[in-house]
Amino acid sequence: MGNLNDALAKAKFVKENPYADCELGKNKTMLLIFFNSSLRTRLSTQKAALNLGMNVIVLDINQGAWKLETERGVVMDGDKPEHILEAIPVMGSYCDIIGVRSFANFASKADDYGEKILNQFIKLSGKPVISMEAATRHPLQSFADLITINEYKRVERPKVVLSWAPHPKALPQAVPNSFAEWMIAAGYEVVITHPKGYELDPEFTRGATIEYDQEKAFEGADFIYGKNWSAYADPNYGKVLCTDKNWTIDERKMALTNNGYFMHCLPVRRNMIVTDNVIESANSLVIPEAANRVVSAQTVIKEILLGLK
Ligand code: CP
Repeated sequence: MGNLNDALAKAKFVKENPYADCELGKNKTMLLIFFNSSLRTRLSTQKAALNLGMNVIVLDINQGAWKLETERGVVMDGDKPEHILEAIPVMGSYCDIIGVRSFANFASKADDYGEKILNQFIKLSGKPVISMEAATRHPLQSFADLITINEYKRVERPKVVLSWAPHPKALPQAVPNSFAEWMIAAGYEVVITHPKGYELDPEFTRGATIEYDQEKAFEGADFIYGKNWSAYADPNYGKVLCTDKNWTIDERKMALTNNGYFMHCLPVRRNMIVTDNVIESANSLVIPEAANRVVSAQTVIKEILLGLK
């Protein structure tokens, strides 16, 4: 928790003094590359960079850019006119820091868990790279979640429950992986509840309790973090195994908690993941949690800018 306490102190300063470093990023350019859609990450990271005085360029790879080939050795006679091996260093030449969003695509577990796209940016761009959610982690989200829990916790070591909930489509494991990893690192009591078959990579969950009974997991919880994810374990990697709405987070289950707060990274499908009444309740933190995305991004970008000086 030593490093996390330091990060939380830096985040507190940024939150209380959002424009204290408005000259730090002068004449520096942040390039944000999106392979996937975004609302919060797109806006909060831009806002964070602008607060630091940076110029910001945003590129949606699938809208207006050339389609990118990512495999080396391919004869490029199809619909992808540009190779990522040229595109990345070109992008790097236009900026000082790069943010990349590139989700798992479930075509290859080895490529996803090897962070093939993100690592190519790190290797080839020549610039510091920030993950804006990659295949296996969403660190800016988890940092914002930690900031939020630190602001609202009523005991030093809260019980934090990560609860799987149903969703019609296959979602990556990045948010739950990161959330578990950060909450365990923070020293909190971490319980993860999900149907059998939804076990996450143990690399991220070691130190957490896995509880297959969702109601038992909720008992005495201080924070409930709702999230869907697809199966991690082979042979079902990336598959939807269950859409049972008995796992939807509702008022009856929240009543089992220690007057617990509800959190979700958003976007959220109402009445699949969580009921209207829970997300609209006084104990729902989804809006302050999303607002803290500016704080987490600004804290990280500020540290990188200080390192560039
Ligand atoms: N939580 C989150 O990353 O939201 P977006 O996908 O809208 O960026």
